[in-house]
Amino acid sequence: MKDICIIGSGHVGLVTGTCLAELGNSVVCMDDDTKKIEGLHKGAMPFFEPGLDEMVRRNVDAGRLSFTTSAEEAVKTSDIVFICVGTPQKPDGEADLTQVENVAHRVAGAMRGYTVVVEKSTVPVKTGGWIKRTIGLDNTSNADFDVVSNPEFLREGKAIYDFLHPDRIVIGAESERAVQVMLELYEPLKAPIIVTNIETAELIKHASNAFLATKISYINALANICENVGADIDKVAEGMGYDRRIGRDFLNAGVGYGGYCLPKDTAAFIRIAEEAGYDFELLKAVRKVNEEQRQQLFNKIKKELWNLNGKTVGILGLAFKADTDDMREAPAIDIIGRLLKEGVRIKAYDPQAMEVSKTILPDIEYCKDTYEVAGGSDALVILTEWDEFKKLDWAKIKALVRQPVIIDGRNLLQPDEMGKLGFIYRGVGR
Ligand code: UDX
Repeated sequence: MKDICIIGSGHVGLVTGTCLAELGNSVVCMDDDTKKIEGLHKGAMPFFEPGLDEMVRRNVDAGRLSFTTSAEEAVKTSDIVFICVGTPQKPDGEADLTQVENVAHRVAGAMRGYTVVVEKSTVPVKTGGWIKRTIGLDNTSNADFDVVSNPEFLREGKAIYDFLHPDRIVIGAESERAVQVMLELYEPLKAPIIVTNIETAELIKHASNAFLATKISYINALANICENVGADIDKVAEGMGYDRRIGRDFLNAGVGYGGYCLPKDTAAFIRIAEEAGYDFELLKAVRKVNEEQRQQLFNKIKKELWNLNGKTVGILGLAFKADTDDMREAPAIDIIGRLLKEGVRIKAYDPQAMEVSKTILPDIEYCKDTYEVAGGSDALVILTEWDEFKKLDWAKIKALVRQPVIIDGRNLLQPDEMGKLGFIYRGVGR
């Protein structure tokens, strides 16, 4: 059992803290946002993550998990401090590390005994070195400390599962003492553990996310070819995926990747490479394909509706992917923005993201379900792969729409079935 504090109770921080409490540790999750912490005291989650509220409640009740706005209080009793603050993207793609530096100063002033300071946020290579230097400058109590890089690989919507069943755990450290602390911490997970230096660990994170983005852009590029030659992208992905060297995961063609991580991390990696003297043309192309994929989908809507001005488009799905209410870099923002510019009336529904969406897209009509969206729509556009969209009564929907057009940006529905019902169906690469 370790005393742990988590600085930054966002998606990564709160899931990490809660799961570490679940493993039997004593965890304090800290955040400067008083509203968030007050909410957590009352059991209100700051975002939607399946299973999190229940796990938080269980661990709070067991006395293993608590919340605070005081970093100082949290750090002084902790063996391990996880830095989980945001590293947002600057306009030039570089990661903004201001919050990481601030945390390093605060940790330095509050440490009492030997402390392992873990960098969990996705940061550019060599950030660990900067954290160490910054803590060293302010370490007034002369506490022993080590900095460790332990990148997260959590998918939103599946974050708890990913934490408890990791494909691997990466530990980048300079001292054997710190490595031992981390090995003990993760021992219950029985996962493969890679121990390496800090720079390598930092790079593994960027390399992994960039590779995932590359897989998605690769399959999307193939989907565009499929459409022109009459091939089926689903079968292409299946045929490729059986090859264990390739694997079927992350080969779903669609409207391109979004979310807080892949767009930001690819941009940051291009910058990191540049600073390291390498022009990462491959990754630049990955990003370009991703941007074009949204244009492609918009073109499909336009092609089916002829003039857009005055038409009504129903949007199914606003979140950047299913099982989350997160709309950061969601394709919906881009597509809806383009449609609004053309004078289109937008009706939309998402099972989880509508409250978030109202703050980002105030000028569209929000509906209680897909059937309400369908009423009078000239086209239905699927932008998030929510399971419930598969289970709809599409015959009923057909009777509600003005024009039976489906643009399926996630290849969620079966083209044959939709065709039989009388829909004009356009997927991606099929
Ligand atoms: C990602 C990484 O997977 C995780 O390891 C990392 O630490 C954080 O970033 P997340 O952003 O939650 O996780 O979502 P993920 O499931 O990776 O999907 C990213 C984007 O790619 C989504 O927009 C998703 O819709 C898209 N995607 C994913 C595809 O378009 N096709 C696929 O086959 C897979």
